[in-house]
Amino acid sequence: MAPVNVTVTGAAGQIGYALLFRIASGALLGPDTKVNLRLLEIPQAVKAAEGTAMELDDCAFPLLSGIEVTDDAKKAFDGANVALLVGARPRTKGMERGDLLEANGGIFKPQGEAINAGAASDVKVLVVGNPANTNALIAQQHAPDVPAGRFTAMTRLDHNRALSQLAAKLGVGVADIKKLTIWGNHSATQYPDIFHAEVSGKNAAEAVNDEAWLADTFIPTVAKRGAAIIEARGASSAASAANAAIDHIHDWVLGTPAGDWTSMAVPSDGSYGVPEGIISSFPVTCANGEYTIVQGLEVNEFSRARIDASVAELVEERDAVKGLGLI
Ligand code: NAI
Repeated sequence: MAPVNVTVTGAAGQIGYALLFRIASGALLGPDTKVNLRLLEIPQAVKAAEGTAMELDDCAFPLLSGIEVTDDAKKAFDGANVALLVGARPRTKGMERGDLLEANGGIFKPQGEAINAGAASDVKVLVVGNPANTNALIAQQHAPDVPAGRFTAMTRLDHNRALSQLAAKLGVGVADIKKLTIWGNHSATQYPDIFHAEVSGKNAAEAVNDEAWLADTFIPTVAKRGAAIIEARGASSAASAANAAIDHIHDWVLGTPAGDWTSMAVPSDGSYGVPEGIISSFPVTCANGEYTIVQGLEVNEFSRARIDASVAELVEERDAVKGLGLI
């Protein structure tokens, strides 16, 4: 089988450093699939990315067929089967939201165009760089020849954080919990939903039986976990974010386990009242390289209000990038 071309942007960043070695070791696509890595960086960071490439060589990973480092998006995405868009412009002090969206438009518009121009016909795109959902929308809108559903954004870190918090509360292992969902935006408005989750086969919300804990502890702890990591570590989540990116693509390509689902931000088809086209997190199952939004879940009042609030934020972000002429 020909090696799979995996393009990673922001390769010299901290998530890049935690991500590349795991991709090359086989964690992304399994032990039978060889990969070619394409590392995209800005010119000032190409040298650092080359240093990481030297270390990748030094690991002598049997599955790593080649590494190319470039600052040219066209080259980086040419023939890409998997594209991990990690590099983004972070919010700096005094930066307004409009400035942030505009700066990211300057990154994700040309990357969308480069994906459109040269990526493989089966390309799968995961946007990690924040604001991830809206950056994914910008890239998607500049890749009209790529099926819109191939552009996704990462809420898997939020999903994994929620699993870990819930497992700790119930005194069980994370593997005992199934069918947890993150809805909405990868932001403080995201909604981690346990009403359909199962713990060792029983309903998780019933097992918790404490709505105050859900509203006042669980949801804010998951939503603000990124800030808590920065406070403790003095740097933002990197290894856990890289791990979540691996999980997202791994499950998309190789499938979700029977009897479970995961969370991915994908273009809405109007399910659950989420306006069509918005890239919002949903419960999804994956099989044969395709994801499907889980249908027919009952959404109670507690969940409805929170999903609506997060989706409203995504609509606002979409309207803002439209207003800026970015889509
Ligand atoms: P970092 O600042 O360490 O690295 C970012 C890298 O991207 C830098 O090396 C920079 O040179 C590069 N870059 C900037 N513009 C680029 C462009 N146009 N093309 C290619 N590379 C470019 O940041 P870190 O910690 O690696 O985080 C990356 C992004 O991931 C941030 O936007 C962060 O907010 C986001 N993030 C998202 C999470 C999620 O759950 N969706 C979780 C954690 C982080």
